[in-house]
Amino acid sequence: MLQVQHIQKSFPRTGEVLKDVSFTLKDGEFLSVIGPSGAGKTTLFRILNGMEACDGGTILYAGVPFESARGRDKRAVQRTIGTIYQDFCLVEVSSALKNVLNACLPEMNTGAALLGRFGPVRREKAAGILREVGLADKLDEPVKRLSGGQKQRVAIARALMRDPAVLLADEPVASLDPVTGRQILELLRQVQQSRGVSVLMNSHNLELSLEFSDHIIGISRGQVVFDGAPGDLTEEVLERIYGGAGVSA
Ligand SMILES: Nc1ncnc2c1ncn2[C@@H]1O[C@H](COP(=O)(O)OP(=O)(O)OP(=O)(O)O)[C@@H](O)[C@H]1O
Ligand SMILES: [Mg+2]
Repeated sequence: MLQVQHIQKSFPRTGEVLKDVSFTLKDGEFLSVIGPSGAGKTTLFRILNGMEACDGGTILYAGVPFESARGRDKRAVQRTIGTIYQDFCLVEVSSALKNVLNACLPEMNTGAALLGRFGPVRREKAAGILREVGLADKLDEPVKRLSGGQKQRVAIARALMRDPAVLLADEPVASLDPVTGRQILELLRQVQQSRGVSVLMNSHNLELSLEFSDHIIGISRGQVVFDGAPGDLTEEVLERIYGGAGVSA
């Protein structure tokens, strides 16, 4: 589904953040990227969803190179990726339904987008996804009146609106209490299994990462120091991942 090959990234003052990162995310797999603060996880995710350019390396989504795709091809590749964040990134004053519909704005013409004319087909689809994530009774509720767990459900619904093949989840449960965090990961697993979506997550909650993932990548100082199954993550490997500081610069 996603092949990441020799990704490199430096920032002017920070220096080299990603040195040579390679891994493969298989179709329908739940993969967690783990590593200490500053290891480069968010930077990697921002490169994978096109928010940040990398300095070297190749990203292939279903065999299509991401970096070199332009125009229509680039939009087609971006459509296959949905992202959710720690702080939800929703429009607080808008309803849950409107937030999910907002995912359609890039594909709409300017007039319809400005007037918020999403049309009945998109509205019905958005309502269906909100029901799927457990928010059937919250469609018209302004997001500011929802709990953190409910907000993350809206964000997941928004990501699903464009039928992504890959869900990138950057610390999806870091702002939630342990019980709610587990419920969100259960929802991600449900989405993974019912829709066949691949999930690429990074979380500081090691216990949940191990429990929910099929595959773990350990990053330390911008390099992959572990690539394997959760069961292979021994104490010695954890020391290798978390033992050093985050970034070398
Ligand atoms: N736009 C930027 N400009 C300069 N330095 C940056 C930029 N973005 C990230 N960095 C630096 O890159 C390094 C890696 O940051 P990143 O956010 O990717 O780490 P992380 O693994 O996600 O950490 P955390 O677990 O705390 O979220 C840090 O030293 C950070 O300061
Ligand atoms: Mg981060």
